[in-house]
Amino acid sequence: MLHKLIRRKPERQNQSLAERISHTKKDQIPEHIAIIMDGNGRWAKKRALPRVAGHHEGMKTVRKITRLANDLGVGALTVYAFSTENWKRPKLEVDFIMRLPEEFLGTYLPELIEQNVRVVMMGENDTLPRHTQEAVRKAMEATKNNTGLILNFALNYGSRAEIAQAMQKIAQLVEEGSLSSSEVTEDLISQHLMTCELPEPDLLIRTSGEVRLSNFMLWQLAYTEFWFTETLWPDFDENCLLDAVESYQNRNRRYGGLKGEESN
Ligand code: FPP
Repeated sequence: MLHKLIRRKPERQNQSLAERISHTKKDQIPEHIAIIMDGNGRWAKKRALPRVAGHHEGMKTVRKITRLANDLGVGALTVYAFSTENWKRPKLEVDFIMRLPEEFLGTYLPELIEQNVRVVMMGENDTLPRHTQEAVRKAMEATKNNTGLILNFALNYGSRAEIAQAMQKIAQLVEEGSLSSSEVTEDLISQHLMTCELPEPDLLIRTSGEVRLSNFMLWQLAYTEFWFTETLWPDFDENCLLDAVESYQNRNRRYGGLKGEESN
């Protein structure tokens, strides 16, 4: 009876990170992981620090998680760094976040190159400050031939705007007569989104206990597995990513159909 009363530690606490990585099923690694990195402000508040200290710490988490995702063989990692709605924040905070790509890429580009990571960006590039555009452009150029993980920064990104823009492009093709309305298929719409070169995310992670999509990849997440955690983004570490991947590997993805013997 006593054994029932003693709470067993989760298995992960008895395993080293290297052991956990080696036990991860290599044939079921998500091809694309998308992350809503939330909770930076609360992380800072808990420590009586300014909100931007949380964003800075969050930047370091991006480095950690990129490295592990690449090592696991994940094909693409999309991180929601700044939404089209985030301009409503105080100027000081916006200016700080807009400097982070420069700092991140200025510091870590050599190791991203060494790790064969390719940096890309999705979002409204033209309205970003020049220095942000330049930092991202340089990194994209320097890593364009890399064949490892694709690190996709969602920067000044909003999913509804992305869909509206795709619709405008398609409507124009119909207007010009180079496309008929019956040719407007799901595939065609996907091809006109900013993610046209990426597979749809297999796994979406949102940190900090918030359970909403916040205008993030609304089209692309149709069949994605969601994983929510109370952990604040700056505290999200390699073990947290492995928790999410393990949970993903135990899901039964049916895409609206039935699986295996259920269909007999
Ligand atoms: C949301 O948390 C987070 C953001 C709006 C910014 C996220 C940016 C980073 C983690 C840095 C990205 C790194 C690079 C290299 C660009 P919040 O501040 O809204 O958290 P809160 O809900 O606790 O206030």
